Amino acid sequence: MNATIIGSQMGDEGKGGIVDVFGDGADVVVRYQGGDNAGHTVAEDGTEYALRLLPSGVVRGKTGVLGNGCVVSLETLFDEIDTLRERGLEPDVRVSSRAHVVLPYHRVLDQLSETARSETTDAVGTTGNGIGPAYEDKASRRGIRIADLLAPEVLRERLEYAVALKRRLVDEPSATGSGNAFDVDHLFETLREYGKRLEANGMIVDTGEFLTERSREGETILFESAQGTHIDVDHGTYPFVTSSNPTAGGAIVGTGVSPSVVADGHVIGVVKSYLTRVGNGPLPTEFEEDVADDFRETVGGFGTVTGRPRRIGWLDLPMVRASARVNGFTGIALNHVDALAGLEELRVCTAYELEGETLRTPPSTVEAWNRCSPQYERFETWSDRDWRAIADQGYDALPEAARTFVEFVSADLECPVFAVGVGPDREETIVLRNPFDPTDREQDDRNTGRDHPVSS
Ligand code: IMP
Repeated sequence: MNATIIGSQMGDEGKGGIVDVFGDGADVVVRYQGGDNAGHTVAEDGTEYALRLLPSGVVRGKTGVLGNGCVVSLETLFDEIDTLRERGLEPDVRVSSRAHVVLPYHRVLDQLSETARSETTDAVGTTGNGIGPAYEDKASRRGIRIADLLAPEVLRERLEYAVALKRRLVDEPSATGSGNAFDVDHLFETLREYGKRLEANGMIVDTGEFLTERSREGETILFESAQGTHIDVDHGTYPFVTSSNPTAGGAIVGTGVSPSVVADGHVIGVVKSYLTRVGNGPLPTEFEEDVADDFRETVGGFGTVTGRPRRIGWLDLPMVRASARVNGFTGIALNHVDALAGLEELRVCTAYELEGETLRTPPSTVEAWNRCSPQYERFETWSDRDWRAIADQGYDALPEAARTFVEFVSADLECPVFAVGVGPDREETIVLRNPFDPTDREQDDRNTGRDHPVSS
């Protein structure tokens, strides 16, 4: 029995916390796409662990795997491992031999591409970590893969070609302020050192084989998506997207397991009770700047990786409905319910209007999406309170207005609620169902359709 945790919006839905809560039931936690552009914050007993690359599950002592669909900055990988070690943890991390490496020149080219875009149109607003250029190289068949770090001749040959090409893209490689980013010898030596370290620690695996084997042995796997469905390169607000597939299909291609392994369990969509976006792109429910400023002041809406202020809007159900369809959500985790406390009004976008038509899901181009006007339903608000105490008491202790809100979202998406987040700490997540609970599964098997949205 496995589970997949997916961001249903634009990233930053609080997936890390949900993976952490449910990760206890998993033996292996695997990331299948993205790189160190992700920001997972896991809080335990007041201690925060901010991870950008490693799967959040490693904080729980689970085997953490980076699938072939990831792009790996080796610097970040070892920084995070070393930091966790310094804090007394013993992270068990495996990396796919087929995963691609993010190289220093990818970062330089990320900046270059953003600058060029901004001269004619809106920049994507990337995290600047070289993610897009690394995936470009993968698709253009000039990427460096983890396995190449163990084969000096292959590595040098691939670097000679890739670096020569990159040097033609920048006027003066040495003037980019990027040190040795375009120096083959330097890159070769650094990568060989990383390769030796990965090999010495037995970290390189064929993830398809590794995960399938562990699954056959009866172990449970949690597939942890980074970013969110609407910044998926295929299903998101293209071109304002990341360069990978955070959607459930990505878990198959990005690890090498068969679809039946991912389908063997729940797919939980993590939904933030409001909406945030770090980069550019459509956001029909976006707050006016002064309202957003006030909200950020109380809620702290700044990107985990970039520190940039997040754009903020009301919960947008057309967007989340599309996510439920593309990912096949069998449940949701509704996060940040506490953050809505004390608002003067609470709105949820239930449909868009576009040129006289009502849309229940977003159109497929950003140009059309930008012209959509949100249709709202208004809800009663609730005041701030001791959320930790409420979490201890359980779902029924939530203010009635908050329960109405939760149940409305659940019913609209036709997905039962697995968890409600009322704070950043592990103990501040109210768990209603657990995707790894075998009795829950038996119950599901007995049901022909979906059961009541909220089952306690
Ligand atoms: P990139 O992934 O750095 O190429 O950035 C592409 C877009 O995805 C930008 O709008 C980023 O702000 C956004 N993005 C990337 N990673 C995350 C994340 O973990 N959370 C939220 N947004 C992200």
